[in-house]
Amino acid sequence: VQRDLAQVVTAAERATRLTHQLLAFARREVVQPAVIDLNDVVTGLDELLHRTLGEHVTLHTHLGERLWPVLADPGQLEQVLVNLAVNARDALAAGGSLSIDTDNVEVDEFYAVARPELTPGRYVSLKVSDTGTGMPREVIERAFEPFFTTKGPGDGTGLGLATVYGIVSQAGGRVEIYSETGLGTTVAVLLPATEQPAVAAQPVRAELPIGAQLTVLVVEDEPALREVARRILTRAGHRVLVAEDGPRAIELARHHESAIDLLLTDVVMPRMLGNEVAEHVQELHPEIHVLFMSGYAQPALGPELRIDPQAALIDKPFSAATLLAAISGVFEARARLPHGSA
Ligand SMILES: Nc1ncnc2c1ncn2[C@@H]1O[C@H](COP(=O)(O)OP(=O)(O)O)[C@@H](O)[C@H]1O
Ligand SMILES: [Mg+2]
Repeated sequence: VQRDLAQVVTAAERATRLTHQLLAFARREVVQPAVIDLNDVVTGLDELLHRTLGEHVTLHTHLGERLWPVLADPGQLEQVLVNLAVNARDALAAGGSLSIDTDNVEVDEFYAVARPELTPGRYVSLKVSDTGTGMPREVIERAFEPFFTTKGPGDGTGLGLATVYGIVSQAGGRVEIYSETGLGTTVAVLLPATEQPAVAAQPVRAELPIGAQLTVLVVEDEPALREVARRILTRAGHRVLVAEDGPRAIELARHHESAIDLLLTDVVMPRMLGNEVAEHVQELHPEIHVLFMSGYAQPALGPELRIDPQAALIDKPFSAATLLAAISGVFEARARLPHGSA
């Protein structure tokens, strides 16, 4: 039974990662360039790519060491990679392999002179190569055209490579196709390196002082999730109050004489939304810390549902370790703020 349960847990964790990747991928945002390491984008999509490719395709990744940072929107680079992988999968119906390579490339005068988009300098390259059907010359020539597709209706939109071209050009880079029918295809992307240093994507995790016992008010309309949160917190030694909706949470907060350290609340709930619950509870317990939990990527929420971008937010579903780390993070962040500015 324990082995079966372990598999259930593994499957749930995989589903969680996949959900987050899909949410991140589905975000429709204005371009937000950031200084990023292309390797992080490739690594972050690993799970999604394996799923996309299926079992008959072997995925090899070769990540160049100490890549120069690039200035680009990470969501858009994910889209580039996914579009290229989906094309490779379609070309690999009979099986084969897909390689993703990243590297630093120095473009010299000689190379740049034949390519008007490029100026000599430092670039980071992303190569996506498959051992699939390959493309005849007349297809290569038109492949970047919007709506050009050789696939049947319902299978192809003809927008995959056009999107890649748009994103790469906008980032000041260049994309080229090398393909041989019967052998395979390489799509090579060059992105200009930036001088700015990359910032770490992950916030530093802090631990709560050992033995710290908190009183936590959990507000969640989904009974299973409410129970999971309650159990995680109780096991970690905290005192837990649970409410199934906002009005009930406010009632509990009003009648709770001693301090409540943390409000852990869902964002989207019937009767009252998370941000309203937080407002009311903060009036009753001004010192309370707030951690929102949401099953939606922020931009997917309508403006009335959005919470303060400064507010702490944890994505659902979460593991015990993630929840406890997020709670530590909330207390850490608060401790660093001067009084009165929280
Ligand atoms: N890796 C590849 N191998 C073989 N052919 C490809 C590959 N990538 C793209 N193509 C060809 O280029 C065409 C355009 O690709 P794309 O713009 O992604 O549109 P779609 O995939 O929807 O057809 C495809 O229909 C296909 O003929
Ligand atoms: Mg495509």
